[in-house]
Amino acid sequence: MSGFELRPLVKDDRAWVAAFVRERWGATKIVSRGRIHWADQLPGIIAMQGDRPVGLATYNIENEECELVTFDSTVEGIGIGSALIEAVKDVAAGAKCRRLWLITTNDNIEALRFYQKRGFFLKTVHRLALDRSRKLKPEIPLVGKHGIPLRDEIELEIPLWRWIGEGEPRKRGFSARFFHEHRIESMPKGPPDASPGESPKTDARGGEVTGEDKP
Ligand SMILES: CC(C)(COP(=O)(O)OP(=O)(O)OC[C@H]1O[C@@H](n2cnc3c(N)ncnc32)[C@H](O)[C@@H]1OP(=O)(O)O)[C@@H](O)C(=O)NCCC(=O)NCCS
Repeated sequence: MSGFELRPLVKDDRAWVAAFVRERWGATKIVSRGRIHWADQLPGIIAMQGDRPVGLATYNIENEECELVTFDSTVEGIGIGSALIEAVKDVAAGAKCRRLWLITTNDNIEALRFYQKRGFFLKTVHRLALDRSRKLKPEIPLVGKHGIPLRDEIELEIPLWRWIGEGEPRKRGFSARFFHEHRIESMPKGPPDASPGESPKTDARGGEVTGEDKP
């Protein structure tokens, strides 16, 4: 059977989610950007093949942003992962989030390929962030996939600007730099608050691929 269906998680799925995430990630405790998420308490989308769960995406919506917290498919290569991403994107846009973002680790080459092919932009490399994560979750190994030292968090994002009416993005904090970086042609009217190429004046949304974390 290769067909599958997606549906939102319901309360009765919690036990399965806990077991599944424990199996895939070692614990339901997931650490990203120095913060603990309990994956079995989060909302999510589940992929079902008949009665059998075959994929799961959990997410956290906060401050007009949606973070994809866990993301797994047990039947790879038939589109489950892609469909889950689209479904979470829809949820995030429906919740009027500015962006869908996620953290992956520097060893997860396959995930980097997967996400970029599905519209994610590299946002920031949080160098040595895993040192800090290990303080919250000591079981994070020192060496990851392919024998690569597990050191950095890589942040990727999809901007979800399309739902915003014309003229509004600037009010909601989108800068000229944002439009430039994401190759969005039409800027809303008004003087730019940063010219493309200028160094950013602000903030976590500025998005340089640099950044050294000092745990
Ligand atoms: C990433 C993942 C969810 C993709 O799920 P999927 O159901 O295979 O996704 P799709 O069928 O839509 O897409 C398959 C694509 O992923 C690639 N792929 C195959 N195995 C993969 C793997 N182990 N990890 C990542 N990508 C993989 C396929 O080659 C295909 O690539 P392409 O179409 O871009 O060329 C799944 O591979 C997975 O669970 N990986 C392990 C957990 C993980 O790394 N999660 C992300 C954490 S940040």
